Amino acid sequence: MKIVAVGHGLPAEMLREVECEKRQPGAGEVALDVRAAAVNTKDIKLYTTTDYARMRDRPSVFPLSLGLEAAGVVTAVGPNAPGPLGPIEKEDEVIAYRVEGAYASRIVVPSSCIIPKPARLSWAQAGSMMLPGTTAFHCLAATFVRPGETVLVHGAAGAVGRFATQLALITGAHVVGTVSETNFDLLRNWGATPVLRGPGFAERVQAAAGGKLAAVIDTVGTNDVIDASLELFTDRRRMATIVNLSRARQDGFLALGGEAGNDEAIRIRDHARYAIAALAQSGALHVHVDRTFRLSDAPEAHEFARMGEGGRLVLIP
Ligand SMILES: NC(=O)c1ccc[n+]([C@@H]2O[C@H](COP(=O)([O-])OP(=O)(O)OC[C@H]3O[C@@H](n4cnc5c(N)ncnc54)[C@H](OP(=O)(O)O)[C@@H]3O)[C@@H](O)[C@H]2O)c1
Repeated sequence: MKIVAVGHGLPAEMLREVECEKRQPGAGEVALDVRAAAVNTKDIKLYTTTDYARMRDRPSVFPLSLGLEAAGVVTAVGPNAPGPLGPIEKEDEVIAYRVEGAYASRIVVPSSCIIPKPARLSWAQAGSMMLPGTTAFHCLAATFVRPGETVLVHGAAGAVGRFATQLALITGAHVVGTVSETNFDLLRNWGATPVLRGPGFAERVQAAAGGKLAAVIDTVGTNDVIDASLELFTDRRRMATIVNLSRARQDGFLALGGEAGNDEAIRIRDHARYAIAALAQSGALHVHVDRTFRLSDAPEAHEFARMGEGGRLVLIP
């Protein structure tokens, strides 16, 4: 079984179950039984809004296969299909990222997308860490966060924000993160400084950072957040957004996307997969899964995410 979107609209109306791919893997391909596939914000934006397609200058083509990352078990390996870290064998437990159509019980993907699953992680953790983890890694690399510096992470308790916060702390930086009050303890337990998001956040960040802000990573993207950040922080080469790319281009700070064609970003993010997997395996990086849904309940999971119930959601075939 596989979930596709059949047009622009609401999850309950637009998501459909169809048969999944039955073909054997060809040259350079691997087939997997999927055990877990993450719900990422992009999966939802691709068919619930037309703005997103306009922003990317690439309309969604329906039926649209959803799901950019998965974890699962290799069931067949095509000819000449090594992984980036060595040979792939039947029964291997692996992560597949970045792929198309991970919302399925079986997928056939390029072998270059496959890396070993860290043994200590659950299927749900392994299937949901690569997109946010590699995006966060890209944010830190692009803003050159160094040990001893203070970095502001907007949306520090979101999927990308949690990884950005943890990676910055692992680097030896101090982190000030904007969050809702319910996420204060999460940040404090890691050793970061939480600051209440919303009106007046700039003054609170100023007080928490003590005027020593060295970089800003935005995972929220509202004009309010960006306007106040630009007033708070003047070095636009070290301020990055992953959301409001048009504001970044307009105001001369960093717009970070991992879309096809953005070779530098893809190279950084592909490389980051190994670091993310190793840090997760060592226990240095915590991978949060807030809730799992059955794959057939994908419409409910998307509705749950759209309503801002939030957290990291994972589909289990
Ligand atoms: N360009 C790229 O390569 C790329 C890659 C991945 C994701 N993205 C985009 O990045 C964004 C974040 O993705 P995600 O998966 O991390 O989303 P997420 O898990 O839903 O997290 C978003 C976080 O934003 C926080 N938030 C919402 N409104 C806020 C505000 N006004 N001020 C401060 N914080 C606010 C929430 O904080 P609380 O929970 O504390 O309330 C939430 O935790 C999405 O728009 C996604 O599409 C882009």
